Amino acid sequence: MKAKVFIAGMGTSLFLAGLAGLVVAWSGIVSVSAIGESGTLDRLLGYASSQSIHRHAGTQTNPFATDPEAVRTGLHHYKENCIACHAASGIDKAEFAQGLNPPPPKLTAPSIRDATDGELFWVIANGIRSTGMPAFAPTHSEEEIWKIVTFVRHLRELSADEIEQLKPANEGDESHHHDQSGH
Ligand code: HEC
Repeated sequence: MKAKVFIAGMGTSLFLAGLAGLVVAWSGIVSVSAIGESGTLDRLLGYASSQSIHRHAGTQTNPFATDPEAVRTGLHHYKENCIACHAASGIDKAEFAQGLNPPPPKLTAPSIRDATDGELFWVIANGIRSTGMPAFAPTHSEEEIWKIVTFVRHLRELSADEIEQLKPANEGDESHHHDQSGH
């Protein structure tokens, strides 16, 4: 009898908690503005996200880890698809990327260094829903994604020549645009 009352109590509590969640969602009380510090909900979602990546990622190691050609190919993909958000040493992220929340992390951060090959591959292939991080599997082959992983691992040891290659081709155009628009 006691167990039954307990289970009924638990059921009611869970139901009420779910209902409270729905009421909060319905009320619109939680702001979706990208401006401001992250709160408890953001931290919870961030935690859920990294747990999910950890769980879904494969255990493969990068077949192109030590391939110098992969660094060169990866550089071109990085310049075209990643640098605007993730920057690189000597190259700032784009203005729009400064307004992203959650912010795109620097890919030289220890948390990225400590990620497994499988985790990096999974994130780049699948992206992270409801953040700025796009999925690249729809537009890139597995081989290309592995080469991007190779380059991400190489970001901490860029040569002067590689930094030059990563800079926007048309520096003149860029400054022209900025002069004209006044910012
Ligand atoms: C439009 C902006 C944008 C572009 C372009 C972009 N990213 Fe991201 N990326 C993000 C954001 C935002 C996050 C943080 C998401 C979060 O905090 O959950 C992120 C997170 C990541 C992470 C970290 C995941 C983790 O475990 O914390 C990696 C690795 C990554 N991106 C790699 C790349 C690579 C490689 C490319 C290019 C192929 C790329 N990103 C392109 C915005 C972008």
